[in-house]
Amino acid sequence: MRKPIIAGNWKMNKTRDEALQFIYNINMNLPSNKKVESVICAQAPILRDLVKRQGEELRIGAQTMHESDTGAYTGEISAALLANIGVEYVIIGHSERRAYYNENDAAINQKIHQAFRYDLTPILCVGESLETREANETDVFVKGQVVEDLKGLGSEQVKNLVIAYEPIWAIGTGKTATSEMANETIRNIREVVRDLYDDETADAVRIQYGGSVKPANIEELLSMSDIDGALVGGASLDSESFLALVNAAVK
Ligand code: PGA
Repeated sequence: MRKPIIAGNWKMNKTRDEALQFIYNINMNLPSNKKVESVICAQAPILRDLVKRQGEELRIGAQTMHESDTGAYTGEISAALLANIGVEYVIIGHSERRAYYNENDAAINQKIHQAFRYDLTPILCVGESLETREANETDVFVKGQVVEDLKGLGSEQVKNLVIAYEPIWAIGTGKTATSEMANETIRNIREVVRDLYDDETADAVRIQYGGSVKPANIEELLSMSDIDGALVGGASLDSESFLALVNAAVK
């Protein structure tokens, strides 16, 4: 059985004080990590503070990283530094990074390889625009992303990867894909992994849904056969709401 994973993507929100207050609020109330993986992905300058204060059941993630070891990349973040300060997860290829910072599949693929070199767990984001959905091209488009982004990875790596299916039109808009729609695309992603690797890998890789997930809709989403968790923006900013999300994932 795949263990559910709920990851909060705080994006460019929260000061250090706000972040520490949040961690303090949730630390004693999180369900066991044996039942659900609870992850908070925060802005880079406070990651070390969060790692130091994370309770036993919480994991900390970054929101992006660079694909090179070191070098003249002003403003970038290396995998070596993330691993060195105790960060365990990293979101890669979020649609906002793809859209605003021109991250393409080739760079995203290199970032995933780089994350594994430093034992970071990548949360790879894929997902289509409204235009693509309306043109009935979602499956072809998302398949293309998955094939490009996973290039050269071994099956053991893919088993340890998290994929987040996030339709761009559902992010921060209040429009959620219906649970059937989300499940169908996620099942297709799993089939792409099956074709590229094997049954064992396809059945092991965890695939989250993301896009306007809230305490009010998470149960229905998680009740679907192929949805293994959620990547949550807005509804992860409030500690009560985040706790409601992770508790919904405990079966
Ligand atoms: P949202 O963001 O939950 O605010 O829609 C999701 C995401 O971008 O990961």
